[in-house]
Amino acid sequence: MILSVFLSFGQKNNILALIPQPKTFIQKNGSFKIKATLQIFTENGQPQNTKSAKLFLDQVNLGYGIKGNVNNKESQHSAILLKTNPDSNYRAEGYHLTVEKKKITIEGSPQGVFYGLQTLAQLVQQNQKKLSVPCCEIIDYPEFSWRGMHLDVSRHFFPLSFIKKYIDYLSMYKMNTFHWHLTDDQGWRIEIKKYPKLTQTGAWRNYTLNGHYSTMPQQFDSTRYGGFYTQEEIREVVDYAQKRFVTIVPEIEMPGHALAALSAYPELSCSGGHFEVIGNWGVFEDVFCTKEETFTFLQDVLSEVMDLFPGKYIHIGGDECPKERWKKCPVCQQRIKDEGLKDENKLQSYFIARIEKFVNSKSRSIIGWDEILEGGLAPNATVMSWRGTEGGLAAAKLKHNVVMAPGSHCYFDYYQGNPKFEPLAIGGFIPVEKVYQFDPIPAGLNPEENKYILGGQANVWTEYIPDGKQVEYMIFPRMCALSEALWTYPQNRDFESFKKRLLSHLKLYDHLNINYSKAMFALKFQVSKGKAPLTVTLAGEPGIEIRYNTDGSELTGKTILYSSPISISKTCLLQAGNFSGGKLCSPVLSQQFYVNPATGKNVTLTYPPHENYNVGGAATLTDGILGRIPWYGGEWLGFNGKNCEAILDLEKTTKISKVIVDVLNAESSWIYLPKSIEVFISPDGVNFTSVKKISEKEIVEMQRKMILETDGLQTRYLKIVVENNGKIPDGKPGAGYDAWLFVDEILVE
Ligand code: ACM
Ligand code: ZN
Repeated sequence: MILSVFLSFGQKNNILALIPQPKTFIQKNGSFKIKATLQIFTENGQPQNTKSAKLFLDQVNLGYGIKGNVNNKESQHSAILLKTNPDSNYRAEGYHLTVEKKKITIEGSPQGVFYGLQTLAQLVQQNQKKLSVPCCEIIDYPEFSWRGMHLDVSRHFFPLSFIKKYIDYLSMYKMNTFHWHLTDDQGWRIEIKKYPKLTQTGAWRNYTLNGHYSTMPQQFDSTRYGGFYTQEEIREVVDYAQKRFVTIVPEIEMPGHALAALSAYPELSCSGGHFEVIGNWGVFEDVFCTKEETFTFLQDVLSEVMDLFPGKYIHIGGDECPKERWKKCPVCQQRIKDEGLKDENKLQSYFIARIEKFVNSKSRSIIGWDEILEGGLAPNATVMSWRGTEGGLAAAKLKHNVVMAPGSHCYFDYYQGNPKFEPLAIGGFIPVEKVYQFDPIPAGLNPEENKYILGGQANVWTEYIPDGKQVEYMIFPRMCALSEALWTYPQNRDFESFKKRLLSHLKLYDHLNINYSKAMFALKFQVSKGKAPLTVTLAGEPGIEIRYNTDGSELTGKTILYSSPISISKTCLLQAGNFSGGKLCSPVLSQQFYVNPATGKNVTLTYPPHENYNVGGAATLTDGILGRIPWYGGEWLGFNGKNCEAILDLEKTTKISKVIVDVLNAESSWIYLPKSIEVFISPDGVNFTSVKKISEKEIVEMQRKMILETDGLQTRYLKIVVENNGKIPDGKPGAGYDAWLFVDEILVE
């Protein structure tokens, strides 16, 4: 309903809805009228162009009911001409599209011609029953050569029919790389002839976590779950992708995330087992042992994989490999001695370098997650930077190729809207706007080093994505934003224009029954920063009525019409919605505010939060809103390895009996409870006296809201030191790294 209201606004704009926006574009007078049968002429019957033309006809038939023919003889009628121009100026993937009243010409490499046809499909305009294409001239090419989408088929399995759809979706937006995450702890999904147990045993688990990982107690179902792709099916998908100019990068995880493989072949572990294909999420300590048999096995597996996938890159994983088993394993320790390695990080490097040597010997290249930098990068490896952009930056400085897929912009398993209205997700917050701002080139590289950044990619981990419909929801419309960020870069980035162009794409999704998120159109609110009382500003789409209340009653056409920021001076539930013709036409925005003497008061932080988890700045700590669980990036401040030291000005001497600090415990995301919390008071904001400290033991007992009793003290200023847990100990998620500390709110009673 809300969308149809917005759509009528979008249509008034009469814009050409191209995504990604082409590099150069001239609109001309008149249009090419699409007749009952569309003629496509492929010069010299070029076989790839002929296939592309047929795919194009299938596509516009589904979208608009257009029928047509493909010929290699030029006809007299209005027609589309496809010409191969191998030495064009349009770069490898570029094209030149000219739409005239009687003729459309697309020129480029076969891949360029395919993309020209994708652009043409987006140019089709429908007015009543009449179809046309506006006259124009487009010269277009991508900025980055790696425009990737990843899909995890281990945590959940997706049938071949959906994998093909996924490839269709990529190609509609000129994405050219499909990173297929085929193996992990929860299931091995690719048939390997030499090791049949990988799929007989490793593709099936006996139970799966229900609900979110952090919801205690965890609940599991007892359904047998799994599946795998036969080699024949894989060949079919590779062929399907090739026709759409999508290169598949298969991922075989090593040395970690290997439980499914070890459940089939426990002799490849350090301990010998027993193992099971696991139905819970996380990082597990049982990994491939560095014994000789493991290398033989992995080389055999990779040989079959390389026979199936013709692309240059093989992804070897490399992320999140705990070293616990290696530390205790005589074979691994002997390997460290024999090879003169310093420690287990060097052993991981040895592992990856050995695999690289093998892959290189077959004229292929490895790509791995940024952990492959630790202990030294294999000589020819490409790095996929996911834990931020630092890994990619370091690799480019070492003159290694890089694909950027940072958790800040590219994790499409994160929430894209208010979790209250969204299906369960892993956590985090990456709205479309954020994806649209993605810049794969990190600050700190010189122009010479920039060329090592091949491009970017979004990752779709599927712990909380059970089926294809939900994958669609998580990638649409975020993939459209990514496509524009990677193709059009760095020009023409205008989010408002993108949003308008997107509307006609959404209409097409409705027509094609593609599931997508409408979160970007939801009513949003912003809270005033560091000023009491709080004021809340509501923001919707221009011209659409907003009504709100704070008394908990149902919203109706008679509820208060929003016109200016709302003052929140006591604890309440704020509800708001869009109205059209006196009827609610959006989900109800509802937000609880907890107002106390600290609410809206000024806070300063001694150490800034990490840039990725600092949405509202210090004022987040007194905005009256408690962070949600599963955690949602926008509501929590994240400190990596640092304390949260907050100084609060209550504006006047105030009697306080309790200080409550809201902290997050999410160890699987490397977010740990604090070691201690200490409260200080001061009359002047300069000289502070400690009045209360709680220990880790008390903190663990309280779990979330940390209550510090202060016996009715009088103070104007408060200092609260929330101590970061420090280095993560062995055996815990993120072992060896600095713990994250997430703090949301400071309340005073
Ligand atoms: C990853 O997200 N573990 C690469
Ligand atoms: Zn071992």
